[in-house]
Amino acid sequence: MNKEIVCSGIRPTGNIHLGNYFGALRNFVKMQDEYNCFFFIADYHSLTTHPTPENLYNNARQILVQYLACGLDPEKSTIYLQSDLPETIELYLFLNMNAYLGELERVTSFKDKVRQQPNNVNAGLLTYPTLMAADILIHKAAKVPVGKDQEQHLEMTRTFANRFNNMYKKEVFPLPQAFNFGGELVKIPGLDGSGKMGKSEGEGNALFITDEPSVIRKKIMRAKTDSGPEQMNQTKPQEIENLFTLLKVVSTPDTVEYFDDLYNRCQIRYGDLKKQLAEDMVNFISPITERINAINSDEASLKRIMDMGKEKAHESARRTIEEVRHVIGYRN
Ligand code: TRP
Repeated sequence: MNKEIVCSGIRPTGNIHLGNYFGALRNFVKMQDEYNCFFFIADYHSLTTHPTPENLYNNARQILVQYLACGLDPEKSTIYLQSDLPETIELYLFLNMNAYLGELERVTSFKDKVRQQPNNVNAGLLTYPTLMAADILIHKAAKVPVGKDQEQHLEMTRTFANRFNNMYKKEVFPLPQAFNFGGELVKIPGLDGSGKMGKSEGEGNALFITDEPSVIRKKIMRAKTDSGPEQMNQTKPQEIENLFTLLKVVSTPDTVEYFDDLYNRCQIRYGDLKKQLAEDMVNFISPITERINAINSDEASLKRIMDMGKEKAHESARRTIEEVRHVIGYRN
């Protein structure tokens, strides 16, 4: 019953693509049985870069629907909107009292943002790491499944947690660790020959779980290739390796071997490879798209899911915030 607590936030930046799926989401789905998981859509954090967002709720809702369609299970995990849990903000305030300007200014993501949006270097941007720490510590999470780019933020979370514990002389917070469930994460390349799906903005670089079959086929048929192998058993250039990587995640091992063999004998026809990849991709993505549509068309049960997530998150957060208020010395 006493499962370890896992917590992760998802920025509502855009539709889920295959890179998100194989890089993180698929592991979130698997974690749900072994851990007490809290997954939330980080719709407060969005204001640090987009102070007057269009469709704020709708974007958050859409990402939530897509996560559910991929297999996040509201019965097993606590899935909620960050903005449904104002306790986080109270903890954010307390943590900010002991977060120092110097350490916040040294955070890489802050320095990047200062460069990217010199006219909007707001305090929310500066205190992004304390909000993220509050997200995690509000549930006393021990493990946080995040990518490399978030490691510095997680280090700050440990700093803030540890400082709080020392300051008030009580082990209120565990020190959360980055966490990579089930070992390797599959890195999905882009269709434009780039190393990472979703990295470049280029039309057609990424395959989204919301893409219609016709769109999937078109994107794959247009994927970058070269003029073909010239020597037997030569190493594949990146754009060709990329197609094989995609084939490996959605096709059978036999299919991969079949095309690999043709490549090695210089008899491959990229058109055939792409057609096969497109069909296997459609078969992989279509059921997810259908679930997205089904969830979207049942507003009442989506509302129930959101309310349940909010309630479960609130229960966990309330316990923490009561303890924190008590430890600092406020009236409970
Ligand atoms: N900063 C994370 C990102 O950009 C999102 C995030 C917000 C998060 N709060 C979190 C991740 C808490 C893990 C835990 O991807």
